[in-house]
Amino acid sequence: MEEKIARLKKQAEEVIRQKVGNLSDLNEIRVRYLGKKGEITTLLHSLGEIAKEERPRVGQIVNDARRQLEDLISEKTAELKEKELKAKLAKEHIDVTLSGRHAWRGHPHPLTITLDRIKTIFMDMGFSVEEGPEIERDYFNFEALNLPKDHPARDMQDSFYITDEILMRTQTSPVQARTMQAHEPNSPIRMIAPGRVYRRDDYDATHSPMFTQVEGLVIDKGIRFSDLKGTLELFLQKIFHAGIGVRFRPSFFPFTEPSAEVDISCVMCHGKGCRVCKGTGWLEILGAGMVHPHVLEMSGYDPKQVSGFAFGLGVERIAMLSYGIDDLRLFYDNDLRFLRQF
Ligand code: PHE
Repeated sequence: MEEKIARLKKQAEEVIRQKVGNLSDLNEIRVRYLGKKGEITTLLHSLGEIAKEERPRVGQIVNDARRQLEDLISEKTAELKEKELKAKLAKEHIDVTLSGRHAWRGHPHPLTITLDRIKTIFMDMGFSVEEGPEIERDYFNFEALNLPKDHPARDMQDSFYITDEILMRTQTSPVQARTMQAHEPNSPIRMIAPGRVYRRDDYDATHSPMFTQVEGLVIDKGIRFSDLKGTLELFLQKIFHAGIGVRFRPSFFPFTEPSAEVDISCVMCHGKGCRVCKGTGWLEILGAGMVHPHVLEMSGYDPKQVSGFAFGLGVERIAMLSYGIDDLRLFYDNDLRFLRQF
């Protein structure tokens, strides 16, 4: 009996120390020797077969062997758990010294930047920002602006018609009539209306069949040409730079009277004359004028009680001049080499 215990114990110890490599193998060994039907447990049960006076001593030996094996198993369990944890950590190891991935950040398009600057300047002067549809009725695009059907001035803006009565708007000026008609007659208006406009133009370095305008309209009691001049001069100084030359030239628009074309001193040569200003020292920048009495009347305003001024400017042109860009098509080509420079 004693020999058998010693042999079993030695056997179990050897296996545990040398062969068992993981927790589930170890558990198998535990069951084989110490489980309910394990070899050592069976030995304990068979104690009854030996002489009575021998039992306590032999029982003691079997129990000692069992305890020692149990201790060895828990030692081995701790060792294996530690080993498995280390293996897991090694496998899931993250190299925190690896440099991060660059997250590319976009930014607004140069036209959006320019438009935002324009809006901010006018909003600071108390203007609201209005909107009108790009697919517009002939009535708002032309008729309500004093351009009846067959008016020769319609030819200045060759248009994309959808039906006889509907077209892609050729200017943001229809928002003038829409805004007046949305207001109580004669109530004051101070608004800008930015948006896309469409004309049957060639697509070259300075023309595009689609471009962006900002309309402006101010109506109140006693609005005079000097208000128009002061407002636009202030705007041009803010969008370009203080001290920039501004001049007004007489012009014609059917919806303003008198009408003016506004020039700034050339931003490239500062008025000396260069290729960009074609030697004149001046650059045409916007159209403007006092709202024609007939236009006020058609939208329910009384020209005897109120007066107003209006202006329209091209956003692409302002962006080109403020960034020194010489080809309008660059704005629409979506070439990242260009767009990333802003
Ligand atoms: N709508 C005109 C154009 O596109 C510009 C303009 C607007 C002129 C308002 C006068 C007043 O040419």
